Amino acid sequence: MARTSRDAFTSTFGVLAATLGSAVGLGNIWKFPSLTGANGGAGFLVVYLLATLLVGLPVMIAETMLGRAARANTITAFERLSPPRQGYWTIIGWMGCAAAVLILAFYSEVAGWVYAYVFKSMVGEIATTDPKVAGSAFGALISDPFSSLLWQWVVLGVTGSIIMLGVSKGIEAVTRKLMPLLFILLLVLCVRSLTLPAAAEGLAFLFAPDLSKITPAVLLTALGLSFFKLSIGMGTMLTYGSYFRDDQNIPATTTRVMLADLTVSLLAGIAIFPAVFSFGFEPSAGPSLVFMTIPAVFTSMPGGAIFMTLFFILTAIASVGAMLSILEVPAAILTERFGLQRKTAALCTIAIVGLFGVPAALSNSVAADLKLFGMNAFDLFDFISSNLLMPVGGILICLFVGWVYGLPQLEKQISNDGTIDNKPLIRVLFFTVRYITPVSIAVVLLHGLKLF
Ligand code: PHE
Repeated sequence: MARTSRDAFTSTFGVLAATLGSAVGLGNIWKFPSLTGANGGAGFLVVYLLATLLVGLPVMIAETMLGRAARANTITAFERLSPPRQGYWTIIGWMGCAAAVLILAFYSEVAGWVYAYVFKSMVGEIATTDPKVAGSAFGALISDPFSSLLWQWVVLGVTGSIIMLGVSKGIEAVTRKLMPLLFILLLVLCVRSLTLPAAAEGLAFLFAPDLSKITPAVLLTALGLSFFKLSIGMGTMLTYGSYFRDDQNIPATTTRVMLADLTVSLLAGIAIFPAVFSFGFEPSAGPSLVFMTIPAVFTSMPGGAIFMTLFFILTAIASVGAMLSILEVPAAILTERFGLQRKTAALCTIAIVGLFGVPAALSNSVAADLKLFGMNAFDLFDFISSNLLMPVGGILICLFVGWVYGLPQLEKQISNDGTIDNKPLIRVLFFTVRYITPVSIAVVLLHGLKLF
């Protein structure tokens, strides 16, 4: 039966590499620094930490647990775990699949810019100390419909080919090699940044909190970032959990991944902000920070060309593991529910994402005026997935575990059938996902959307 022949991760290191590979991505190197920079620095970091501990981690544990309990894709998982006549819980799986496609549509575009920048930094095309010149180079890239689509397709081609190879031979094998490399590159960049003249100013921006900029909208942004960072609320962790080993300690593994992911975000901040301050640039450039400010910053420093290339290689590497994990959500659904071969499922996934990717890729050129609620396709896909589908998915996962799945089952799963002695922890987790997490998400969501 298909249940026993499912592909899965083969080692504990493989589980960690793949799961951390999913968590670490453009979220750490593009979203985290730009959102922290735009929302006042350390104050935002405090809120983000709270969101991660109170909401992110409990949802991550609950979601991974559901995946391992069901050993199936997101939709089938809720079919298997729901009580009779409550098949409507599969809506969580469908929403997750929709979120995966929307995220991939804009994520693959940003990853495309990163790939283009690896190239451009190698040939010295973006070597300028003037952020305005860097800005127009970036503007030229994103407003050219042909390059935008081409780079997006390169990204989809690379990641799609890895997905075709499967869970252990594709995802696990690749992330095992890339994750250590990513840490080494990041440490090199941090040392460079910390030895620059205004390192202290950059560190103060990142670590000395100023809470005056925290509004309900900022709270929702921090919560959305926490979901995005931990790859939760849309089925990625559930799908990966379904490939976990039976003896994997779920709370320990997820906590390790959360801490390592946070470390990568902080290291990215340490690599970026001291450099930004040392050369007199603005930390609040927003999403363009990485593509406009960073080239100018690196070109201003001794040996900058090499460090700039390393920076974009690092970012490209980070995007791979994350994209694989998002692609795996629809790919697993297509193989397990629609009976497609792995390769066909990967190709179909890429084709669907490619289709949704077109308006996102063209949202700075020919489709710039195509707006809904004042947002172009790129921003809209990001907003709908991070700020709506993922938090709502998070609420529903908590309600499912806290009110339907129940404590005895949760205990059995989280303690690996009683082999791990972690009863008190499970009780705290149960209480949290039953009450605290869903209520906190709902309050932040309604406030952030100005619905109350
Ligand atoms: N966590 C990834 C990042 O930070 C993005 C991601 C979102 C991955 C959702 C999987 C699911 O870049």
